[in-house]
Amino acid sequence: MSHLDDFPSTPGKFKMEKSPFIHSRMRWHWQSSLAKLSFWSLIFMGVIFIFFFRSPSSNPIAQDPSRRSLRTYNWGGPVWEKRVRSSARVLSRNGFSVLVTGAAGFVGTHVSAALKKRGDGVLGLDNFNDYYDPSLKRARQALLERSGVFIVEGDINDSALLRKLFEVVAFTHVMHLAAQAGVRYAMENPGSYVHSNIAGFVSLLEVCKSANPQPAIVWASSSSVYGLNSKVPFSEKDRTDQPASLYAATKKAGEEIAHTYNHIYGLSLTGLRFFTVYGPWGRPDMAYFFFTRDILKGKSIPIFEAANHGMVARDFTYIDDIVKGCLAALDTAKKSTGSGGKKKGPAQLRVYNLGNTSPVPVSELVSILERLLKVKVKRNFMKLPRNGDVQFTHANISLAQRELGYKPTTDLQTGLKKFVRWYLGFYSDGKKAAE
Ligand SMILES: NC(=O)c1ccc[n+]([C@@H]2O[C@H](COP(=O)([O-])OP(=O)(O)OC[C@H]3O[C@@H](n4cnc5c(N)ncnc54)[C@H](O)[C@@H]3O)[C@@H](O)[C@H]2O)c1
Repeated sequence: MSHLDDFPSTPGKFKMEKSPFIHSRMRWHWQSSLAKLSFWSLIFMGVIFIFFFRSPSSNPIAQDPSRRSLRTYNWGGPVWEKRVRSSARVLSRNGFSVLVTGAAGFVGTHVSAALKKRGDGVLGLDNFNDYYDPSLKRARQALLERSGVFIVEGDINDSALLRKLFEVVAFTHVMHLAAQAGVRYAMENPGSYVHSNIAGFVSLLEVCKSANPQPAIVWASSSSVYGLNSKVPFSEKDRTDQPASLYAATKKAGEEIAHTYNHIYGLSLTGLRFFTVYGPWGRPDMAYFFFTRDILKGKSIPIFEAANHGMVARDFTYIDDIVKGCLAALDTAKKSTGSGGKKKGPAQLRVYNLGNTSPVPVSELVSILERLLKVKVKRNFMKLPRNGDVQFTHANISLAQRELGYKPTTDLQTGLKKFVRWYLGFYSDGKKAAE
């Protein structure tokens, strides 16, 4: 008899063994195998259970930084609507009512405060994400609250929220500054750039295009769109098809998306290419900010050099100059021409460089900080890593000068002095300055 004969040829047709001894031996063998199998299955399921339910990384939102912004926010209700309306109320003759996205951010805070000061109605919107210390964003929020600007907590991807805001207020303008900023972080969390700079921008434009009346939109692009362009100074006519980082690529995508919404729906759109903005209430991920922190801690400062000891330089632009450029862009923006999602005629589409036109080597930035902070700096010269940073930026601002009357007036030494004064006040006594 072949050993193969012991097994059924078809399922369910197992033939009974004739010998009782063989039968009981087999039963014992089966029972013991079954017990072993159950034991190991239990162990296996236990391990799976521990992995999924006890592991700190089992929460997919905590695990994936790009999904952190998918938080839900509380908005709506009569008290909330009253705050929205009151914040956006225009207090000057011919003033605007402006929705400022990214209002708890560095540039957003300064622009919101300046608009409010001159009598425009301002409503902020920000998701307060934790790309950098959210307590700094909260401190900026407290600052704006004191001047009567309410920041709605929410994401620009939340179309229902955006529609609600346009239902409550007929915004004449949108100053769109919400974005995932920073060049290097794109290698860590690429999804956050797509979420805020592409999907978020489209979500905002969709609501703007359907609003009645459509607002005029001024939004922040970036000098980073010039990427590997080596012709200086960078002019708006230069090529912008060689981005050196995903951040730059999403800003470039934004410019193309702006073109589409202008072309199809008649939205008035102005893109502003900011060049390395710095100043009080600035961004902790930027070199001038963390150099200051690290110099005060006695840490050595990395100074990047390009190939053959080539200097790395930036066209540092002081925040007050940027704010003037933003307000001028809003003031000169023509109305959108569409209504109810339909284009009625050609609309304005503009792009401007907002820089300082005088690039300064990063080593010089460190020397200025050294003098202002009165601390001897330990310099650590390093090769410029290939992580998205470009060797230099230099703006040609003649177009903005001509059409916006833009004229930067603050040099790096003067601007850094103001930044350092703010920094020392803000961080000296446990952020007390923000209360
Ligand atoms: N600061 C610069 O040097 C510089 C240079 C070039 C371009 N820009 C651009 O200017 C704008 C403002 O930059 P900043 O320096 O004030 O940056 P920031 O990070 O301080 O401000 C951006 C704000 O947007 C918010 N935000 C991000 N994603 C959001 C979302 N999906 N929904 C709602 N809010 C969201 C953030 O919480 C943050 O408060 C950005 O578009 C940035 O890309 C800045």
